[in-house]
Amino acid sequence: MQNLPIRPRRNRRTEAVRGLMRETSLSVSHLIYPMFVHEGEEDEEIHSLPGCKRWSVEGLVAEAKRLYALGIPCIDLFGAVPEEKKSMDGAEAWNPQGVVQRALRALRREVPGLLLMTDVALDPYSTYGQDGLVREYADGSYEVLNDETVEALCRQALSHAEAGADIISPSDMMDGRIAALRAALDAAGYTGVSLLSYTAKYASALYGPFRGALGSAPKKGDKKTYQMDPANRREALREAALDAAEGADMLMVKPATYYLDVISDLRAGSTLPIAAYHVSGEYLMLKAAAASGWLDEKAATLEALLSIRRAGADMILTYAAPQVAEWLQEEI
Ligand code: PBG
Repeated sequence: MQNLPIRPRRNRRTEAVRGLMRETSLSVSHLIYPMFVHEGEEDEEIHSLPGCKRWSVEGLVAEAKRLYALGIPCIDLFGAVPEEKKSMDGAEAWNPQGVVQRALRALRREVPGLLLMTDVALDPYSTYGQDGLVREYADGSYEVLNDETVEALCRQALSHAEAGADIISPSDMMDGRIAALRAALDAAGYTGVSLLSYTAKYASALYGPFRGALGSAPKKGDKKTYQMDPANRREALREAALDAAEGADMLMVKPATYYLDVISDLRAGSTLPIAAYHVSGEYLMLKAAAASGWLDEKAATLEALLSIRRAGADMILTYAAPQVAEWLQEEI
Protein backbone atom coordinates (compact mmCIF):
# COMPACT_ATOMS: atom_id res chain seq x y z
CA MET A 1 0.00 0.00 0.00
CA GLN A 2 1.37 3.36 -1.02
CA ASN A 3 1.88 5.97 1.69
CA LEU A 4 -0.61 8.54 0.42
CA PRO A 5 -2.02 10.61 3.29
CA ILE A 6 -3.86 13.10 1.11
CA ARG A 7 -6.59 11.43 -0.88
CA PRO A 8 -9.18 13.86 -2.37
CA ARG A 9 -11.37 10.88 -3.27
CA ARG A 10 -12.30 10.51 0.43
CA ASN A 11 -14.47 13.61 -0.03
CA ARG A 12 -16.35 11.96 -2.90
CA ARG A 13 -16.93 8.57 -1.30
CA THR A 14 -20.74 8.54 -1.05
CA GLU A 15 -23.59 10.82 -2.01
CA ALA A 16 -23.95 11.90 1.63
CA VAL A 17 -20.27 12.87 1.77
CA ARG A 18 -20.50 14.67 -1.57
CA GLY A 19 -23.54 16.52 -0.26
CA LEU A 20 -21.53 17.89 2.67
CA MET A 21 -18.72 19.04 0.37
CA ARG A 22 -20.91 20.59 -2.34
CA GLU A 23 -19.94 24.22 -3.00
CA THR A 24 -22.79 25.31 -5.26
CA SER A 25 -26.51 24.69 -5.31
CA LEU A 26 -29.27 25.15 -7.82
CA SER A 27 -32.79 25.63 -6.58
CA VAL A 28 -36.08 26.79 -8.02
CA SER A 29 -35.72 30.03 -6.05
CA HIS A 30 -32.88 31.03 -8.42
CA LEU A 31 -34.99 30.77 -11.58
CA ILE A 32 -36.69 33.41 -13.69
CA TYR A 33 -38.87 32.20 -16.56
CA PRO A 34 -39.06 34.30 -19.77
CA MET A 35 -42.58 34.20 -21.26
CA PHE A 36 -44.08 35.53 -24.49
CA VAL A 37 -47.54 37.04 -24.63
CA HIS A 38 -49.50 37.93 -27.77
CA GLU A 39 -52.88 39.40 -28.62
CA GLY A 40 -54.43 36.22 -30.00
CA GLU A 41 -56.96 34.11 -28.12
CA GLU A 42 -55.00 30.90 -28.68
CA ASP A 43 -51.77 29.73 -27.06
CA GLU A 44 -49.37 29.02 -29.94
CA GLU A 45 -46.44 26.62 -29.94
CA ILE A 46 -43.16 28.33 -30.87
CA HIS A 47 -41.34 26.16 -33.40
CA SER A 48 -37.95 27.71 -32.71
CA LEU A 49 -38.35 27.20 -28.95
CA PRO A 50 -39.80 23.76 -28.25
CA GLY A 51 -41.70 23.71 -24.97
CA CYS A 52 -42.40 27.47 -25.05
CA LYS A 53 -45.54 29.23 -26.23
CA ARG A 54 -46.82 32.58 -27.32
CA TRP A 55 -49.51 32.82 -24.69
CA SER A 56 -52.86 34.57 -24.83
CA VAL A 57 -53.36 36.78 -21.76
CA GLU A 58 -55.74 34.19 -20.32
CA GLY A 59 -53.39 31.27 -21.04
CA LEU A 60 -50.48 33.22 -19.56
CA VAL A 61 -52.31 33.81 -16.30
CA ALA A 62 -53.24 30.13 -15.96
CA GLU A 63 -49.67 29.01 -16.70
CA ALA A 64 -48.23 31.62 -14.32
CA LYS A 65 -50.42 30.25 -11.53
CA ARG A 66 -49.11 26.76 -12.18
CA LEU A 67 -45.47 27.95 -12.23
CA TYR A 68 -45.90 29.95 -9.03
CA ALA A 69 -47.27 26.82 -7.35
CA LEU A 70 -44.16 24.96 -8.59
CA GLY A 71 -42.05 27.52 -6.72
CA ILE A 72 -40.89 29.73 -9.61
CA PRO A 73 -40.59 33.18 -8.01
CA CYS A 74 -40.43 35.43 -11.09
CA ILE A 75 -41.38 35.60 -14.78
CA ASP A 76 -39.98 37.94 -17.44
CA LEU A 77 -42.55 39.15 -19.97
CA PHE A 78 -41.98 39.82 -23.68
CA GLY A 79 -44.71 41.16 -25.97
CA ALA A 80 -45.21 39.65 -29.43
CA VAL A 81 -47.09 42.07 -31.68
CA PRO A 82 -48.23 41.65 -35.31
CA GLU A 83 -46.39 43.48 -38.14
CA GLU A 84 -49.19 46.06 -38.47
CA LYS A 85 -48.60 47.29 -34.89
CA LYS A 86 -44.90 47.91 -35.52
CA SER A 87 -43.80 51.42 -36.36
CA MET A 88 -40.73 53.60 -36.76
CA ASP A 89 -41.19 55.05 -33.25
CA GLY A 90 -42.20 51.75 -31.63
CA ALA A 91 -45.12 53.50 -29.91
CA GLU A 92 -46.99 50.25 -29.25
CA ALA A 93 -44.31 49.61 -26.60
CA TRP A 94 -45.95 52.14 -24.23
CA ASN A 95 -49.59 51.69 -25.22
CA PRO A 96 -51.44 51.39 -21.87
CA GLN A 97 -53.73 48.85 -23.60
CA GLY A 98 -50.76 46.99 -25.13
CA VAL A 99 -50.53 43.28 -24.64
CA VAL A 100 -47.76 43.40 -22.00
CA GLN A 101 -49.58 46.08 -20.02
CA ARG A 102 -52.84 44.09 -20.11
CA ALA A 103 -51.02 40.92 -19.11
CA LEU A 104 -49.36 42.70 -16.18
CA ARG A 105 -52.67 43.94 -14.82
CA ALA A 106 -54.24 40.48 -15.10
CA LEU A 107 -51.22 38.78 -13.47
CA ARG A 108 -51.07 41.35 -10.67
CA ARG A 109 -54.70 40.61 -9.87
CA GLU A 110 -54.67 36.82 -10.31
CA VAL A 111 -51.18 35.80 -9.10
CA PRO A 112 -50.31 38.49 -6.55
CA GLY A 113 -47.18 36.89 -5.07
CA LEU A 114 -45.42 36.25 -8.38
CA LEU A 115 -42.63 38.74 -9.19
CA LEU A 116 -43.32 40.39 -12.53
CA MET A 117 -40.34 41.43 -14.62
CA THR A 118 -40.63 43.05 -18.04
CA ASP A 119 -38.22 43.46 -20.92
CA VAL A 120 -37.67 47.05 -21.99
CA ALA A 121 -36.40 47.57 -25.56
CA LEU A 122 -38.07 48.54 -28.82
CA ASP A 123 -37.17 45.62 -31.12
CA PRO A 124 -40.50 43.74 -30.95
CA TYR A 125 -42.32 47.01 -31.72
CA SER A 126 -39.97 48.58 -34.25
CA THR A 127 -40.31 48.38 -38.03
CA TYR A 128 -36.56 47.88 -38.19
CA GLY A 129 -36.31 45.22 -35.49
CA GLN A 130 -33.69 47.32 -33.73
CA ASP A 131 -33.73 47.86 -29.97
CA GLY A 132 -33.71 51.61 -30.44
CA LEU A 133 -35.03 54.41 -32.65
CA VAL A 134 -33.52 54.60 -36.08
CA ARG A 135 -32.48 57.54 -38.28
CA GLU A 136 -32.31 56.77 -42.00
CA TYR A 137 -29.85 58.42 -44.36
CA ALA A 138 -30.12 59.18 -48.07
CA ASP A 139 -27.55 56.55 -49.01
CA GLY A 140 -29.76 53.81 -47.51
CA SER A 141 -27.74 53.44 -44.33
CA TYR A 142 -29.17 54.02 -40.88
CA GLU A 143 -28.10 54.70 -37.33
CA VAL A 144 -29.59 53.53 -34.00
CA LEU A 145 -30.00 56.71 -31.95
CA ASN A 146 -29.01 56.71 -28.29
CA ASP A 147 -30.51 59.60 -26.36
CA GLU A 148 -33.81 59.66 -28.26
CA THR A 149 -34.12 55.91 -27.63
CA VAL A 150 -33.57 56.36 -23.90
CA GLU A 151 -36.56 58.73 -23.78
CA ALA A 152 -38.72 56.12 -25.50
CA LEU A 153 -37.51 53.42 -23.11
CA CYS A 154 -38.55 55.60 -20.16
CA ARG A 155 -42.07 55.82 -21.60
CA GLN A 156 -42.17 52.05 -22.02
CA ALA A 157 -40.85 51.42 -18.49
CA LEU A 158 -43.36 53.84 -16.93
CA SER A 159 -46.25 52.10 -18.67
CA HIS A 160 -45.00 48.77 -17.27
CA ALA A 161 -44.62 50.16 -13.75
CA GLU A 162 -48.09 51.68 -13.95
CA ALA A 163 -49.51 48.27 -14.98
CA GLY A 164 -47.84 46.52 -12.02
CA ALA A 165 -44.28 45.48 -12.95
CA ASP A 166 -41.93 44.78 -10.02
CA ILE A 167 -38.69 44.72 -11.99
CA ILE A 168 -37.83 46.56 -15.21
CA SER A 169 -35.17 44.90 -17.29
CA PRO A 170 -33.72 47.04 -20.09
CA SER A 171 -32.13 44.80 -22.77
CA ASP A 172 -31.26 47.56 -25.25
CA MET A 173 -27.63 48.44 -24.32
CA MET A 174 -28.08 52.20 -24.88
CA ASP A 175 -25.71 54.42 -22.89
CA GLY A 176 -27.13 56.17 -19.84
CA ARG A 177 -30.46 54.36 -19.76
CA ILE A 178 -30.15 53.13 -16.17
CA ALA A 179 -29.80 56.66 -14.77
CA ALA A 180 -32.63 57.91 -16.98
CA LEU A 181 -34.95 55.02 -16.09
CA ARG A 182 -34.26 55.41 -12.37
CA ALA A 183 -34.97 59.13 -12.52
CA ALA A 184 -38.17 58.63 -14.54
CA LEU A 185 -39.48 55.88 -12.23
CA ASP A 186 -38.66 57.86 -9.09
CA ALA A 187 -40.21 61.06 -10.43
CA ALA A 188 -43.45 59.14 -11.04
CA GLY A 189 -43.39 57.68 -7.53
CA TYR A 190 -42.23 54.16 -8.49
CA THR A 191 -39.33 54.13 -6.06
CA GLY A 192 -39.99 50.46 -5.24
CA VAL A 193 -39.67 49.25 -8.84
CA SER A 194 -36.27 47.60 -9.39
CA LEU A 195 -33.91 47.81 -12.35
CA LEU A 196 -32.22 44.66 -13.60
CA SER A 197 -29.75 45.95 -16.16
CA TYR A 198 -28.56 43.91 -19.11
CA THR A 199 -25.05 45.08 -18.27
CA ALA A 200 -22.93 42.85 -20.48
CA LYS A 201 -25.13 41.83 -23.38
CA TYR A 202 -23.09 40.49 -26.24
CA ALA A 203 -23.83 40.67 -29.99
CA SER A 204 -24.32 36.91 -29.97
CA ALA A 205 -25.30 34.35 -32.59
CA LEU A 206 -27.39 32.61 -29.93
CA TYR A 207 -30.47 34.88 -30.04
CA GLY A 208 -31.85 33.41 -33.30
CA PRO A 209 -34.62 31.23 -31.81
CA PHE A 210 -35.87 34.15 -29.65
CA ARG A 211 -36.05 36.47 -32.66
CA GLY A 212 -38.02 33.73 -34.42
CA ALA A 213 -40.46 33.65 -31.50
CA LEU A 214 -41.12 37.41 -31.66
CA GLY A 215 -40.52 38.01 -35.36
CA SER A 216 -38.06 40.63 -34.14
CA ALA A 217 -34.89 39.95 -36.16
CA PRO A 218 -33.30 43.17 -37.49
CA LYS A 219 -34.65 43.81 -41.00
CA LYS A 220 -31.15 44.66 -42.14
CA GLY A 221 -27.81 45.00 -40.46
CA ASP A 222 -26.98 43.76 -36.98
CA LYS A 223 -26.80 45.06 -33.39
CA LYS A 224 -23.04 45.46 -33.13
CA THR A 225 -23.07 49.24 -32.57
CA TYR A 226 -24.69 48.72 -29.16
CA GLN A 227 -24.37 45.08 -28.06
CA MET A 228 -20.88 44.13 -26.88
CA ASP A 229 -18.21 42.47 -28.97
CA PRO A 230 -17.93 38.77 -27.95
CA ALA A 231 -14.14 39.23 -27.95
CA ASN A 232 -14.23 41.62 -24.98
CA ARG A 233 -13.94 40.81 -21.29
CA ARG A 234 -12.61 43.94 -19.54
CA GLU A 235 -15.30 46.04 -21.17
CA ALA A 236 -17.94 44.19 -19.14
CA LEU A 237 -16.44 45.61 -15.95
CA ARG A 238 -16.64 49.09 -17.45
CA GLU A 239 -20.34 48.61 -18.18
CA ALA A 240 -20.85 47.16 -14.68
CA ALA A 241 -19.25 50.17 -12.99
CA LEU A 242 -21.48 52.54 -14.98
CA ASP A 243 -24.67 50.58 -14.25
CA ALA A 244 -23.86 50.45 -10.54
CA ALA A 245 -23.14 54.17 -10.45
CA GLU A 246 -26.37 54.89 -12.35
CA GLY A 247 -28.46 52.98 -9.81
CA ALA A 248 -28.96 49.45 -11.16
CA ASP A 249 -30.26 47.01 -8.52
CA MET A 250 -28.94 43.91 -10.33
CA LEU A 251 -26.54 43.28 -13.19
CA MET A 252 -26.96 40.75 -15.98
CA VAL A 253 -24.61 38.83 -18.26
CA LYS A 254 -26.05 37.45 -21.48
CA PRO A 255 -25.62 34.82 -22.94
CA ALA A 256 -24.53 32.70 -19.98
CA THR A 257 -22.56 29.52 -20.70
CA TYR A 258 -20.21 30.99 -23.35
CA TYR A 259 -19.56 33.92 -20.97
CA LEU A 260 -18.84 32.25 -17.63
CA ASP A 261 -15.61 34.25 -17.34
CA VAL A 262 -17.63 37.46 -17.55
CA ILE A 263 -20.08 36.25 -14.89
CA SER A 264 -17.13 35.43 -12.68
CA ASP A 265 -15.53 38.84 -13.26
CA LEU A 266 -18.74 40.68 -12.42
CA ARG A 267 -19.23 38.53 -9.32
CA ALA A 268 -15.74 39.45 -8.13
CA GLY A 269 -15.96 43.08 -9.24
CA SER A 270 -19.36 44.08 -7.89
CA THR A 271 -21.37 43.73 -4.71
CA LEU A 272 -24.64 43.81 -6.68
CA PRO A 273 -26.62 40.61 -7.30
CA ILE A 274 -25.73 39.03 -10.65
CA ALA A 275 -28.19 37.50 -13.10
CA ALA A 276 -27.32 35.43 -16.16
CA TYR A 277 -29.55 34.78 -19.18
CA HIS A 278 -29.33 31.23 -20.49
CA VAL A 279 -30.58 32.36 -23.90
CA SER A 280 -32.71 30.76 -26.57
CA GLY A 281 -29.77 29.35 -28.55
CA GLU A 282 -28.24 27.78 -25.46
CA TYR A 283 -31.61 26.19 -24.62
CA LEU A 284 -32.19 25.05 -28.19
CA MET A 285 -28.78 23.37 -28.51
CA LEU A 286 -29.62 21.22 -25.49
CA LYS A 287 -33.15 20.50 -26.75
CA ALA A 288 -31.90 19.51 -30.20
CA ALA A 289 -29.16 17.25 -28.86
CA ALA A 290 -31.61 15.64 -26.45
CA ALA A 291 -34.22 15.12 -29.18
CA SER A 292 -31.60 13.26 -31.22
CA GLY A 293 -30.80 11.10 -28.22
CA TRP A 294 -27.24 12.44 -28.08
CA LEU A 295 -27.44 14.04 -24.65
CA ASP A 296 -29.36 13.27 -21.49
CA GLU A 297 -31.54 16.39 -21.37
CA LYS A 298 -32.03 16.51 -17.62
CA ALA A 299 -28.38 15.90 -16.72
CA ALA A 300 -27.01 18.26 -19.39
CA THR A 301 -29.47 21.04 -18.55
CA LEU A 302 -28.90 20.85 -14.80
CA GLU A 303 -25.12 20.85 -15.38
CA ALA A 304 -25.34 23.94 -17.63
CA LEU A 305 -27.37 25.83 -15.02
CA LEU A 306 -25.16 24.68 -12.14
CA SER A 307 -22.08 25.91 -14.03
CA ILE A 308 -23.72 29.33 -14.36
CA ARG A 309 -24.32 29.36 -10.60
CA ARG A 310 -20.73 28.17 -9.93
CA ALA A 311 -19.37 31.04 -12.05
CA GLY A 312 -21.16 33.43 -9.68
CA ALA A 313 -24.69 34.10 -10.89
CA ASP A 314 -27.33 34.51 -8.20
CA MET A 315 -30.27 34.12 -10.55
CA ILE A 316 -30.76 32.54 -13.97
CA LEU A 317 -33.25 33.39 -16.69
CA THR A 318 -33.98 30.18 -18.53
CA TYR A 319 -36.63 28.69 -20.82
CA ALA A 320 -36.03 25.42 -18.98
CA ALA A 321 -37.36 26.85 -15.69
CA PRO A 322 -40.68 24.90 -15.57
CA GLN A 323 -38.96 21.64 -16.46
CA VAL A 324 -36.15 22.28 -13.97
CA ALA A 325 -38.67 23.08 -11.23
CA GLU A 326 -40.26 19.67 -11.85
CA TRP A 327 -36.90 17.88 -11.96
CA LEU A 328 -35.81 19.48 -8.70
CA GLN A 329 -39.06 18.39 -7.05
CA GLU A 330 -38.44 14.79 -8.12
CA GLU A 331 -35.05 14.89 -6.36
CA ILE A 332 -36.54 15.71 -2.96
C1 PBG B 1 -33.99 42.14 -27.43
C2 PBG B 1 -33.76 40.89 -26.68
C3 PBG B 1 -33.15 39.78 -27.23
C4 PBG B 1 -33.17 38.81 -26.25
C5 PBG B 1 -33.77 39.35 -25.11
N1 PBG B 1 -34.12 40.67 -25.40
C6 PBG B 1 -32.64 39.53 -28.59
C7 PBG B 1 -31.76 40.51 -29.25
O1 PBG B 1 -31.08 41.31 -28.61
O2 PBG B 1 -31.76 40.50 -30.48
C8 PBG B 1 -32.63 37.44 -26.47
C9 PBG B 1 -33.13 36.36 -25.60
C10 PBG B 1 -32.83 34.99 -26.08
O3 PBG B 1 -32.18 34.74 -27.10
O4 PBG B 1 -33.28 34.08 -25.37
N2 PBG B 1 -34.08 43.31 -26.78
